[in-house]
This record gives sequence, structure tokens and C-alpha cells, in this order.
Amino acid sequence: MTVTNLETPIKKHVLLAICGGIAAYKSAELVRLLRKQGCEVRVVMTHSAREFVSPLTFQALSGNPVHTELLDVEEENAMGHINLARWADVLVIAPATANTIAKCAHGLADDLVSTLFLAATCPVYMAPAMNQAMWNKTITQENIRQLEGCEVLFIGPNAGDQACGETGKGRMAEPAEICQRLLLESKSDILQGVKVLISAGPTREYIDPVRYITNRSSGKMGFALARAASRAGAQVSLVSGPVNLQPPPHLDVIHVETAAQMYDAVISRASKTDIYIGAAAVADYSPRVMEKEKVKKKDSLTTLLLHKTKDILADVAQLKNAPFTVGFAAETNDLAAYAQAKLSGKKLDMIAANWVGREQGGFDSNQNALEIFWKNGKASLPMTDKNQLAEQLINLITTRFNEKNRI
Ligand code: C5P
Repeated sequence: MTVTNLETPIKKHVLLAICGGIAAYKSAELVRLLRKQGCEVRVVMTHSAREFVSPLTFQALSGNPVHTELLDVEEENAMGHINLARWADVLVIAPATANTIAKCAHGLADDLVSTLFLAATCPVYMAPAMNQAMWNKTITQENIRQLEGCEVLFIGPNAGDQACGETGKGRMAEPAEICQRLLLESKSDILQGVKVLISAGPTREYIDPVRYITNRSSGKMGFALARAASRAGAQVSLVSGPVNLQPPPHLDVIHVETAAQMYDAVISRASKTDIYIGAAAVADYSPRVMEKEKVKKKDSLTTLLLHKTKDILADVAQLKNAPFTVGFAAETNDLAAYAQAKLSGKKLDMIAANWVGREQGGFDSNQNALEIFWKNGKASLPMTDKNQLAEQLINLITTRFNEKNRI
């Protein structure tokens, strides 16, 4: 993979933390690529990282002294860990070993890298690298989930041959891939001053106090869109159904459970917003009555009577002061035809369609691919991490939103 050169190189402060894994050698190339893109890079290394590559290599490539000690009298006077954390626009831990991932997940701060992680207020990326068995271990996966809940963004790991002779997932992402991701997700101001309302996750339609009808939506796409819009400078409100995700900080998050609650939360805010993105998987049908007591098991078959829920998206698009309205379409077949029918049927400005029920992507996956349609236009966003996909979709929405407002 080559890094696509940006027209205007960004002057970005990248704090690169290198942990002790054989992939540390790849980080030398990462420093070179980042500097080529106009970034200023400062490197910190754990003690074991220095066993793999000499700090001198990173000093020469970054043009800055390399930091290794948490308690260094001279460094504290010049640029201590708090100053380093303040200086950073982004903290990248690459390679991130199982040990450092575990320390960060549990808030330990016994070396420079884990302390910087705690002190950093900027976005944090981790590019894990480890043996495939270590990566697959339940405790590592729990640590990853914990960090994802704290807004850490993961790049890789990739699958393939490993330095230990095994094959599997655990190879650090290639430097070009890491660099590209950082540049694509740079903080921008393309949505500065714009109000964005996003709905995410599933809804629960209660049959009785203990049973409900729901769907497989995880809310990951909607949450990624909220983060991406916020990074682009927008003022974001997120209406979320019941999900297992940590709400992004600094956002106005409204928690709802049922389709009717989501309807009220969205409609009451929609005419005061500039862009509405309906990423939620709203139930189309809800039980006609919710029984007050738990329904008892009976021998004979019973019938559940349903009524149609109100279509939030279509009603938002019909508002007198309708915002720029973007819908989602999850389809198992005839994706383009169904998506285009929804675009015109619900009078939307844009629709993002994805396949569901397939091996890769869709519900509850960290990855997805989207086909985007608008009046007289379309675009394909190939299979990638949902955070990256969200960034690309926000860019597309912004372009179309600006075009519509110019007319
Ligand atoms: O028509 P369909 O439900 O397939 O369209 C999906 C889109 O409509 C999604 O953007 C979803 O958030 C939205 N929707 C809605 N209210 C409903 C059902 C779906 O806003 N009751």
C-alpha cells in the first residue's frame, strides 16, 4: 500500500510510542512516512522496545530526542510526560504489545508509555502486534474492548505469517496503512458550526415486562459517525437505542429504548438541526399492547399482534424545516434497487446501503462497506474499519450538504 499524498500537508504533532515487539522495526518507516506528510514526530520507547531498535534510529529519523524515562530529572525540566502529552495532537502506540495494552486498559502508569496514555487528552490510536495466541486470549480481547469503550482507536492487527513462525492474526498493520488512517482521520473543521443529529443502535419493542423484540444492530456505525462528525467540528447530538458502547465524550447523548421513544427524541430535535443521519435499526413493528404482567406459557400457540411503527426518517424528511437527511438501508438482496427506492420514497438527500447477513461486515462487525446513493449520483466505500468508513461518509455528506446549501 502506498500513502496517498494530501494536497496540503498537515502540520500535526504525532507522539509515537514504541513498545517491545519485533514489529518495532516497522515503526522506523512509520516515522519517515509521517514526516514526509508534514507531521512533526516525537518518539517515546519502553525499555524493552530499546532491546529491539536503538533510540538513535528514531532520533535520526524524527529529528527529535527520544524519550524513554518516566522519571528523568533532565527531561522533567525540559519536556516531562505531561508536557509531551499536551504537545501531542495524536498519540500512536505502535507496536502496542499485550503488556502495554493490558496496562492501559487497567489504568496502570508505571512507565513512560502507560503514563502518557493516561495523561493524553488527544485521540489515541493503537496498532497491536503480538503472537496470534496472545491476541486471541480472552483477557487480551477483553482489554481491547475495554479500551474501545474509552475511545481508543485500533489499527489492525493483520493476519499472516508471524516472526515467531506461527500464522494468524497479530501482525502489526503496515506503516503505510497506519499513516493513511491517521491522515484521513485528522481533526478538521469541515463541519464547524454545523448541528448534526444521529440515531444509532437497535430499539426494543416490549411484549411484556421481561420480553421484547429487537434486532442485531450494535450501534457501532452510528457511534463511529458521531465521533467522526465531532472530529470534523460539528455540534453532535446522538440518540441511542440500547447498546453496549461507551458514549463518545463531549457529545449530547440521549438514551432511548423503544421506537416510539426514539421517534419523540429525534422529531423534537430535527428541525433545529442541520444534518440528520438515521443510522439506527428502528423496529418496523411493535406489539399492539405491552402486557402489564409476564405472559404465562400456554399449551396452544398464541398470536402476537403487531402494529407498524412510525417512520422517523421519512417524517424528518417531511418537516417544514427538514435538515439534510441521510438514511441507511441494510439489505440481504437487490441492494441498489431497494436503496434507491428508499431514497426517493422517503424523500431523502442521501442513503447509505450495506449488505447484511453475509460473512463480512454488517451488524455487530467492526468492518463494513457502503454503497451511497443521492439524486443523480452514487459512490462506493469499500470494506474497511467502521471508524474509517464513518470518516469517509462524513466527508461525502459534507460535500453534498454544502452543495445543497449553495443552490
Ligand atoms: O425502510 P427501512 O426501514 O428499510 O429504512 C431504513 C432507514 O429508515 C434507516 O435509516 C432507519 O434508521 C430508518 N427508519 C426509521 N424509522 C423506522 C424504520 C426505519 O427512521 N420506523
